Amino acid sequence: MNKRLMIGLSVVFCLAAAVLIYLGSRGPDATATTVMQEPSQAFLGVGPREITIRNVTKKPVHYKLRAYGSEGGGDERVLLPDEIDRYPAPQTVIISYLKHGVEVTYSLFPGKPYSFRYDSAGNTDIWVGAHGREDAVDLAPYVPTPSEVVAEMCRLGEVSKDSIVYDIGCGDGRIVIYAAKTYGARGVGIDIEPERIRESRANAKEAGVEKLVRFELADATRVDISEATVVTMYLLPESNELLRPKLEKELRPGVFVVTHNYMIPGWEEKEVTSAVVRDPEGKEHTVFLYRR
Ligand SMILES: C[S@@+](CC[C@H](N)C(=O)[O-])C[C@H]1O[C@@H](n2cnc3c(N)ncnc32)[C@H](O)[C@@H]1O
Repeated sequence: MNKRLMIGLSVVFCLAAAVLIYLGSRGPDATATTVMQEPSQAFLGVGPREITIRNVTKKPVHYKLRAYGSEGGGDERVLLPDEIDRYPAPQTVIISYLKHGVEVTYSLFPGKPYSFRYDSAGNTDIWVGAHGREDAVDLAPYVPTPSEVVAEMCRLGEVSKDSIVYDIGCGDGRIVIYAAKTYGARGVGIDIEPERIRESRANAKEAGVEKLVRFELADATRVDISEATVVTMYLLPESNELLRPKLEKELRPGVFVVTHNYMIPGWEEKEVTSAVVRDPEGKEHTVFLYRR
């Protein structure tokens, strides 16, 4: 083969290889981008080739995972309360665990979030999403803010009797109830869990502030929060990010947004200050204050 032909063939080969590499790199990633843009998956940051399992019970959960069609017992795993297991899932994954002492087996599908939570009888079971719903964004599991941190959040947010405090994902209502009881502020708590809303209403009654506060059973991402003068959030960082456009669209300039432990990605320039609070167990919590 002469030298010219050799160079010609090498150029053709290199071009063909480049085209193949380009096409190969587009396939899965192009799909991945599309899948990740769906809100029901974006909130948990679940990749299209993994599953996540969150433990929202109060006890460690033992289970086994294996790829669909594989032999053997699978990977033995223990998930502590509030932890998330991210498991590679290029294909369906089979989970097995003990339910009422009997081994049960289910299929889990790539790109979906799951959680261990209690069913209505108080038994641990696996659900799609962290609150067992696929139609609503999962902002965070229920973890109450310690009272010292609640007080600091209200202090930093300059809560007064003129404030209207909105707590997004209000849990047992403690933040708006504290704001009402301590400062005479009005408040709205929104939560997706019926049990949380029942607790919040009962707690407001017990605290004697039921005329100042109201609790809504709803997906907070769909509730109008434009009347708020202070917004509080104890949510996952990806949820803060998800809510940022809503805060920007609905809140008036100057409104305070106070978050517990997690920053609002993209609002670095709006951060006014932050404070660290120790709870009675000595654990540190950070409170971030933003001004819309
Ligand atoms: C970490 S807890 C915070 C509770 C309370 N704000 C506090 O600080 O004590 C988060 C709460 O968000 C609620 N939540 C999760 N997704 C939600 C959604 N889409 N809409 C409303 N509430 C939601 C959960 O049920 C849970 O009670």
